[in-house]
Amino acid sequence: MATLHDIITRRTPPVPWEEGDNIPWHDPAFSERMLAEHLNQDHDLASRRFGLVDAHVDWIHRVLLHERPARILDLACGPGLYLNRLGQIGHRGVGIDFSPASIAHARQEAATEDLPLHYVKGDIRSVDFGVGFDLVMLLYGQLNVFRRAEASAIVTRSRAALAPGGIFVAEPQTFDHVRNSGLADTSWSGQSSGLFSEQPHLLLTESFWDEEGRTGTQRFYVVDAASGVATQHSLSNEAYGDEELVSLFSDAGFRDVELLSSLTGHAASDEMLIVVART
Ligand SMILES: C[S@@+](CC[C@H](N)C(=O)[O-])C[C@H]1O[C@@H](n2cnc3c(N)ncnc32)[C@H](O)[C@@H]1O
Repeated sequence: MATLHDIITRRTPPVPWEEGDNIPWHDPAFSERMLAEHLNQDHDLASRRFGLVDAHVDWIHRVLLHERPARILDLACGPGLYLNRLGQIGHRGVGIDFSPASIAHARQEAATEDLPLHYVKGDIRSVDFGVGFDLVMLLYGQLNVFRRAEASAIVTRSRAALAPGGIFVAEPQTFDHVRNSGLADTSWSGQSSGLFSEQPHLLLTESFWDEEGRTGTQRFYVVDAASGVATQHSLSNEAYGDEELVSLFSDAGFRDVELLSSLTGHAASDEMLIVVART
């Protein structure tokens, strides 16, 4: 909890990671509100709209997996939009995410269709991945939300979770996207209800770019209209240049690391790129 005085005397710029590392994905009430955004077909904020997810799944199935049944590990799987579709076309696998509402949704959909998938509610920085996977996925910008050492550990543990011949496909944010997000203007809005709170509140947002550390940080204050009490959330993203990305994977023991422009094979937005790393 923060007071208005805390907001006025806040440290600017913040030290990346020091005030928090992510928005509260794992908070039950927040995760319920976020699940609605994942499933919302008017925007691509939390997950892509289903048409694009279908196109990505088709590319993964045809180009990466050569249409052969595979065992897949989906890290930070959200509500299972990718893994459940892959399950429907003959793949098996495990999805891990620490959002309770997303994991419940993914499990329920998989159970309804009796798909050979298992969902684990856990933090991918610490939960055991298991072994013997043909494909590990870490999609939609999530590689960047971890400190560099944590990202490196996740890549190394993913390498160990892969069977011989296995593939890691990651979709990091581009360097420029992280940098531009960090250079975004300060803004505020009054909301009768929103992602951070169901109650009327002011949402204050500011962004920072740390050139030396190549890290972007967003800071949010959610000021409750009734009490004037503020809740603060901060998230940081590491920016990787192409060479550093390739090193992250080759240092973890991948022998063949390729950078692509999108998960459909066509150039899409310049916000994300694809790393395909082979054992
Ligand atoms: C932008 S969403 C993407 C979800 C999914 N990959 C997709 O594209 O539909 C990011 C997801 O990462 C999850 N996440 C972030 N940090 C995590 C962590 N440390 N452990 C597990 N899940 C995490 C969040 O809960 C959220 O579901």
